[in-house]
Amino acid sequence: MREWTRDERYRVLHSPDEIRELYDRVKLSPYRQTYHVQPITGLSSDPNGFALHKGVWHLCYQWCPWGAVHGLKYWYHVTSPDLIHWKNEGIGLAPDRDYDNKGTHSGSAISVGEELVFFYTGNHRDENWVRTPWTCAAFLNAEGKLEKLPEPLFGPRPDYTEHQRDPKVIYNKARGRYYIFLGAQSADKRGCVLVYSSEKPLEGWRFEGELKVPGFERLGGMWECPYVVNISGTDVLIFSPQYTTLPGRGASTNHNVYMLGKMDFDTLTFTPEGGYHFLDYGFDFYAAQGAANVPDPDKAILVGWIGLPDNHYPTEEEDWEGSMSLPRELRVRDGKLLQTPISGVEQLRSDEPIRLGFLPSACEMQVNVPAGDFDLNLFTRDDGSGGLRLHYDEKTRTCTLDRSGMDKRFNTNVFEVLDVPLEEPLSSLRIFIDRSSAELFFNDGEAVFTTHVYPTEREHGFEITPDAPFRLWKLEKSVTDEFVV
Ligand code: FRU
Repeated sequence: MREWTRDERYRVLHSPDEIRELYDRVKLSPYRQTYHVQPITGLSSDPNGFALHKGVWHLCYQWCPWGAVHGLKYWYHVTSPDLIHWKNEGIGLAPDRDYDNKGTHSGSAISVGEELVFFYTGNHRDENWVRTPWTCAAFLNAEGKLEKLPEPLFGPRPDYTEHQRDPKVIYNKARGRYYIFLGAQSADKRGCVLVYSSEKPLEGWRFEGELKVPGFERLGGMWECPYVVNISGTDVLIFSPQYTTLPGRGASTNHNVYMLGKMDFDTLTFTPEGGYHFLDYGFDFYAAQGAANVPDPDKAILVGWIGLPDNHYPTEEEDWEGSMSLPRELRVRDGKLLQTPISGVEQLRSDEPIRLGFLPSACEMQVNVPAGDFDLNLFTRDDGSGGLRLHYDEKTRTCTLDRSGMDKRFNTNVFEVLDVPLEEPLSSLRIFIDRSSAELFFNDGEAVFTTHVYPTEREHGFEITPDAPFRLWKLEKSVTDEFVV
């Protein structure tokens, strides 16, 4: 693993020429994704600024151009007509002001009439490396570029620590007000959410208070990327608590959870109905963000980062890592959250015939799972050994996924084996494999499991036991992956 000095990590990008060679090299990697948004070079982490505006989906991601390292963060901007085909637009936000001198950190977007407005965290550090997080704004200008407001909207609260970031804006129609949910850490190191509101998106913001979430006053030391979305009348609080381990999640201290409940803007209380659930049971999923301006009140659309903070991935050696998840549709049915792959993704299915027993490097697989115990091994070697192994135990209704059999192992000290507890018996699997990721949807959306995988040349088989009806399609490329900076 390469050691980076602070100067290297926080180097400013002055010209695209500085990363052209790196791009040419990264592009050759066999692990480049083909239908997932990924960084042109370096590291991509959180999805940012996700919204539908004038028929175009805008999405940005946290980007560090120089390599697979968390250093000076930019927003990189991509657009799509359908959430399936993605085009690179270049840098969205660069850390070029004093108030964001050490990073344009995570944030969101919302389309308001003719305007698409963005909110982000300006990560300022002084010469003693003391941090001041500013909540800043930008808008999409006539050239289709993000243009910053001259000054931040507001600064940090003195009664919370330096961890105050990730403004997610929502509009509350009934109250005629915009709300910002800001991830924070209290002075006594509790993870929490600060709420601000304004009548107008780009001015007049006032602090409303800390969001109360009864029963969850101590769930980790920082809540990153929090927000509330209403789906079919149920409020869903989504956030990424960190600095704590959680049952069933190995040694990981970064999680992405949701709670169903009721949001009361009068008392600033989110009352959960039941406990928290994992948004994704996989090894690599974090900082998910829902799109703004989704026209259908019965669904939300969500993208997560395939990756975790503090973790290391094999493509670090190639100076890039991370990708966005496939966008997902979230619905609430019978008091439960269902997550399904973005509709329309079927159009990527190719007519090309599949080689018997051979897993294409970008494919979709659907399996009708018979009753009883069940095994599905993906990326096995010719002799059937190794791979990403899924075992379903009917008695406990638990799927166990084990990636320790893969040639390329990573984050072994965090976890290599995880369980997916199901409420219903396992009856169906829908699996999306790209060159360095796998996303498994269980029982039409009851649970999802996302993981990075880096199969070597000899890992391309699969085995289903007992035999079960399945379908397999190669998927076509849908991200342009062009050098646009
Ligand atoms: C989450 C996060 C955010 C922050 C961003 C910086 O992964 O730590 O809280 O804004 O990443 O890249």
